[in-house]
Amino acid sequence: MNVLVIGSGGREHAIAWKLKQSSRVDRVFVASGNAGTASDAENIPIAVTDIDALVKFAKENHVGMTIVGPEVPLVAGLADIFAAENLPVFGPSKEAAELEGSKVFCKNLLRQGLVPTADFQTFSDAEQAVAYLEDREDVPVVVKADGLAAGKGVYVCDGREDAVRAVLEIGQDKKFGEAGNQIVIEERLNGQEASVLAITDGRTILTLEPAQDHKRAYDGDLGPNTGGMGAYCPTPVLTDEQLYWTNEHILVPTVHAMKRCRRPFRGVLYAGLMLTHQGPKVLEYNVRFGDPECQPILMRLKTDLLDICESTWEGRLDRLPPLEWDPRPAVCVVMAADGYPESARKGDVIRGLDEAAKLPNVKVFHAGTKLNEAHEVVTSGGRVLGVTAMGESIALAKQAAYSAVKLIRWPGAWCRKDISDKAFQKSSGSK
Ligand SMILES: Nc1ncnc2c1ncn2[C@@H]1O[C@H](COP(=O)(O)OP(=O)(O)O)[C@@H](O)[C@H]1O
Ligand SMILES: [Mg+2]
Repeated sequence: MNVLVIGSGGREHAIAWKLKQSSRVDRVFVASGNAGTASDAENIPIAVTDIDALVKFAKENHVGMTIVGPEVPLVAGLADIFAAENLPVFGPSKEAAELEGSKVFCKNLLRQGLVPTADFQTFSDAEQAVAYLEDREDVPVVVKADGLAAGKGVYVCDGREDAVRAVLEIGQDKKFGEAGNQIVIEERLNGQEASVLAITDGRTILTLEPAQDHKRAYDGDLGPNTGGMGAYCPTPVLTDEQLYWTNEHILVPTVHAMKRCRRPFRGVLYAGLMLTHQGPKVLEYNVRFGDPECQPILMRLKTDLLDICESTWEGRLDRLPPLEWDPRPAVCVVMAADGYPESARKGDVIRGLDEAAKLPNVKVFHAGTKLNEAHEVVTSGGRVLGVTAMGESIALAKQAAYSAVKLIRWPGAWCRKDISDKAFQKSSGSK
């Protein structure tokens, strides 16, 4: 079977790499891919937003399964259009993707389903939101733009002054355009964050082993927010009991609530959790694999990804044998370009990729890379590589990943040095 992966980041490289290992897969196409997917799969020059061209390509090239990496095409309805053309697709419908596409929808669904989440209020008027902030006690809150804002629409505020400024940026200055037509103001929670991803066909839920991302740019969780500077899986910050509890009290009621409101969810349901001293609470849902969580998760997953996607599409996940995992932990370290996250220096030739590829249990997933005219791999984005390694323990996986990082260089390359260290400071729910 030929398969099509939509997207061009590290997540999509990992998905393409994993699909390529399936004995049932012939060709893996990636739209539009990067230098890594150009060597592990076949890139096609179609933008993720050009859904008509993607449909045409899928038909002409006998694509039997399309896997959507990023949220934007899902929220735009790509899965519905493919399904209407009888093209099997892995990813939720437009209506189900609202779970990520609208934080107001998500919060209301969580409230209705009695799923633990931060207390909140929603506003469609910036003045009312400001009045609300001024009327109540001056406490730490989080202000969020309703719609997709590429990870920039959330303001974690220390108090009223910050919060009012956030409301005005979102609601009055329209910093995120229409995504700011509604605003969520919620209670600020404390604790460690963890990512629990599950595959669901709308009835059966297969919970994946938990992962932890590192959103801040610098060591010790300092500096600005980024798309994610590294991740590892499994994470011990969530105990087995907490994972079981999360399944029962968070994932199951969410999938049921989606079914009840006639938006059955098929695809990857990703719960971003805060582990508070009252237990795990949902910060948000994403409707696709996380990037970079996808890289360590898929490195460890032994079950054929195509089988998972097909069972999801056909609504028969209940008949899929239990997922198989490599017991070894995996750590992914993101190597970024100079200037990221504000801007990114581009076009530098990346050296040392061949040497890194020779290390055992290491895979260098590409994100912001492309081939130049001389067929050299050059940087072309902020997050450039996701250097991923497995080891007998988290510490050894970390060591293996950083050994590979040391071999790779380009001017201005940098990374966090502490990816996975939170596994060893187990103080979930403290502070
Ligand atoms: N209620 C909250 N309390 C404390 N921190 C929060 C809260 N909501 C979000 N955050 C922080 O902001 C980050 C981004 O928020 P999130 O809801 O995941 O939005 P997005 O990923 O769409 O930007 C979270 O990873 C978390 O660090
Ligand atoms: Mg998030």
